[in-house]
Formats: sequence, structure tokens, C-alpha cells
Amino acid sequence: MTRPLEIALLGLGTVGAGVAELLQRHAELLAERAGGPLQLRRVAVRDPDKPRDVDLDPDLLCGDPTLVAADPEIDVLVEVMGGIEPARTLLCEALRRGVHVVTANKELLAKHGAELREAALQGGAGLHCEAAVAGGIPIVKALAESLSGNRVQALYGIVNGTTNFILTRMTQDKVGFAEALKQAQDLGYAEANPAADVDGDDAASKLAILAGLAFGAEFASDDVYRAGIGHLTPTDIQAAADLGHVIKLLAIAKDRDGQVELRVHPTMIPADHPLAAVHGAYNAVFVHGDAVGDLMFYGRGAGRMPTASAVLADIVDAAQDLRRGVSGRIPMPSRRLAVLPMTEVTSRYYLAIQVADQPGVLGAIATVLGRHQVSVASMIQKGRRDAPVDLLFVTHQAVERQLLAALEEVAGLPQVERIAQVIRVEGSEEA
Ligand SMILES: NC(=O)c1ccc[n+]([C@@H]2O[C@H](COP(=O)([O-])OP(=O)(O)OC[C@H]3O[C@@H](n4cnc5c(N)ncnc54)[C@H](OP(=O)(O)O)[C@@H]3O)[C@@H](O)[C@H]2O)c1
Repeated sequence: MTRPLEIALLGLGTVGAGVAELLQRHAELLAERAGGPLQLRRVAVRDPDKPRDVDLDPDLLCGDPTLVAADPEIDVLVEVMGGIEPARTLLCEALRRGVHVVTANKELLAKHGAELREAALQGGAGLHCEAAVAGGIPIVKALAESLSGNRVQALYGIVNGTTNFILTRMTQDKVGFAEALKQAQDLGYAEANPAADVDGDDAASKLAILAGLAFGAEFASDDVYRAGIGHLTPTDIQAAADLGHVIKLLAIAKDRDGQVELRVHPTMIPADHPLAAVHGAYNAVFVHGDAVGDLMFYGRGAGRMPTASAVLADIVDAAQDLRRGVSGRIPMPSRRLAVLPMTEVTSRYYLAIQVADQPGVLGAIATVLGRHQVSVASMIQKGRRDAPVDLLFVTHQAVERQLLAALEEVAGLPQVERIAQVIRVEGSEEA
């Protein structure tokens, strides 16, 4: 009989328990697919005495992740404990020893991906990370392997379920940000401290990984411009609807002739765009390749079993490589690509400008915008006579630097009370 492959698991929380459960539930199926049995050898946790909701031999649990990762008998090390250390050190050491690694840790990959890849090359080991972005959606392998025949020109992702849930509630139930956030927290979709999600940091880490795979280059999460959703109001959501749009927190990467745009921010997209139909905690990644055209990957971006599904696929890949005696497939950045400064990014913009309802105000604003090469595609006036009104503009493509200069000047016009909102618009005019 073929020798079982020995799996060590770092972490038995949300994802780890799902991985352990699938290893048991699908033992036969996985053995067929992996070319032999997969044996769970050891599991590292913080507290081995904590009750677990997965049926596991307690002797497998160990409170010391170093001991588990350094076990000379293991073939595949699965890291689902999160955080930078000790994961970074343990994974690098294992890879250098030739142990194949599967990780769901986007934070670690976005900050130290180059170091991990280098260690994998040194050890001739595989580094697999399907679960790190968009949970159960097989987007990592799609970008790294299935789309190799394309030049990816643009990628738009809804890659944070918490913010998508909040924006969906704000849109469908017409509630404010605070109430929608509370609903997300009550239902377990948002952390008690939701900053990493609502400020766009989590999506930025994921975009750095996705863009690296899409463009064959190395990016860090700090390369990604980000703006969160905390400043959005029901008025903005309604204005978007009046314009036939919805607002999503999009992670956007675009190839700009040797440079790339990397940005995460609230974005208005047409209500009939495929991404507009991605509701609640679901994720989706929309990719445009020069040969394949438009593609959309949709599914559950988090949660125990969807994420475990992606981890298991990586374990099977690693097992197949080990059985065949080939060293792992590691997507290596082949190009150096500069990130376009946000001020040089070109976009369409939605602008809400609060003004005193006086004759000539519209002309004054349009003149200032025009002087800065910002041209107006459409305009709606909201409000009553003799009261401050909102002028809602959607612009044609404009350079962000010029838009900002125009807005500074507009804010100084005597009839203008305030610039109430600026939201980038995508999807309805070729960029
Ligand atoms: N949750 C998701 O839906 C999801 C989706 C995609 C990717 N991910 C990624 O998957 C990873 C795990 O997430 P999770 O939600 O499963 O986390 P979690 O529920 O907090 O579980 C973490 C597990 O790791 C153990 N652990 C943490 N630090 C440790 C240490 N220093 N030594 C030993 N054990 C340690 C914990 O032990 P105790 O149980 O004893 O506390 C726990 O079992 C993260 O990188 C996350 O970003 C999660």
C-alpha cells in the first residue's frame, strides 16, 4: 500500500476545524485524488485543553507550533492560525527543508510573500495559497495557471464579505452605516473591531496577492491605495440608485502600459454590472483578459467549509506533486511593475456638491471643472428652492490630480457650501 502522506496542521479554529473535518469526511475520496491516504499527524493550537467542535483524537493536539512544524516526519504543513509570527518563521524553515506548505494567511503573504517564495525555491518545496483570497473561490489557481495565455488587463474584486454585507444592508434596507455594521456584528460577519474590514485594509492585502498573480509582479499591501466605507451615507446610496448605479467596495487592479493601478475604495458601478448582483457576504472577482475577455468568479469568500474546501484542494495538489516527485509550482513574479500614484489614476467621478440655490452657480462650477480638464457627463439637482441644494455630477474620465485641484477651487466658490461626497465610478465607460 502507498505510504500515507503526513499532514501537520497549525491552527484548529474556524478554518482548521473545517480542514480536519474534511480530511475525515472525505478520507477515501481524497486518497483517490491525492494518489494515496492523507494522514493528520499533529495539530498545533494555543490551548490544547479548550473544547473543540471537531471530533479529533486529543493526543494529536499540541500547544507548541514550533514542535509541530519541525516534526521531521511531515510532508505537508498547513498553516491556518493567522498572524505574522510565528507563522513566518515556521513556514520559511519548513519550506527550506523541502516541506510543502499550504497557507490561508493573506496578511503573511501580502507582507512576506517574496521571502516565502524564496524559501520554497531554496527547499524545492511547493507554496500553495488558494484559501488566502476569496475563501472558497478558486481564483488563485485561475490567475496563476488557467489564465496563463492572457495578458490580464483589469481585475475588479469584491473580496471583503463584511463590507459587502454592510453595503447590501444599506442599499436594500435603507439603513445607515452604523446600523448595518451592528447587524453584521450581531450575525458574526464583522469583528468587534471592524477597522481592518471597513477601512479597506483586508481587501488591500488580498488585492496585492491577486494583482501579483494577475500581472506576474511583486506587490505589497502598502502599494495599494485604500479608502473605506465608513463615510458613506444613505443619501449616497440613494443618489447612486437615482443614477442607475450601486456602491460596492471594489479592489481594482489595472494594467496601464507598464504601470499598474492598485486601489481599494467605494465605487459606483452600473446596477446591471455582474458585480452589482453580488450581495451579502458573498465575494466575486471579475477579470478581463485580452484573449478570454470578461470572466467572473463568484462564491463564498469566507467561512469554515468554503475556506477549508480551498485548503483541501491545495493539500491534494501538494500531495500529487510529492507523489510524482516534482517540486512545487510557485508562481514567480517575472516582471517589475511600478504602481501608478493615485494622483495620476484616471477615473470617472460622482460628485455631490452642496450649494446655495442662486443663479449662475451651476455655470461657475462647470467652468472651474472645465478649466481643470474635468468634463461633466451628467448632472442632477436635488433639493427645494431657497434652501441649500445638492448638485450631483458624474464626470467623464479625469485625472485624479486634476479633479482634486478642481474641487479645491470649487470649494472656494462663494455659492458652494461644501463638497459633500466624491465617489469613483467604474464599469460604464471604457477606461
Ligand atoms: N475564517 C475565515 O473564513 C477565513 C477565510 C480565509 C482565510 N482565513 C485565514 O485563515 C487563517 C485562520 O483563520 P481562522 O478564522 O480559522 O482563525 P481562528 O478561528 O482564530 O483560529 C486560529 C487557530 O490558530 C491557533 N493559534 C493561533 N495562534 C497560535 C499560536 N501562536 N500557536 C498555536 N496555535 C495558534 C488557535 O488556537 P486556539 O484554538 O487554541 O485558540 C486557533 O485554533 C487566518 O490567516 C485567516 O486570515 C480565514
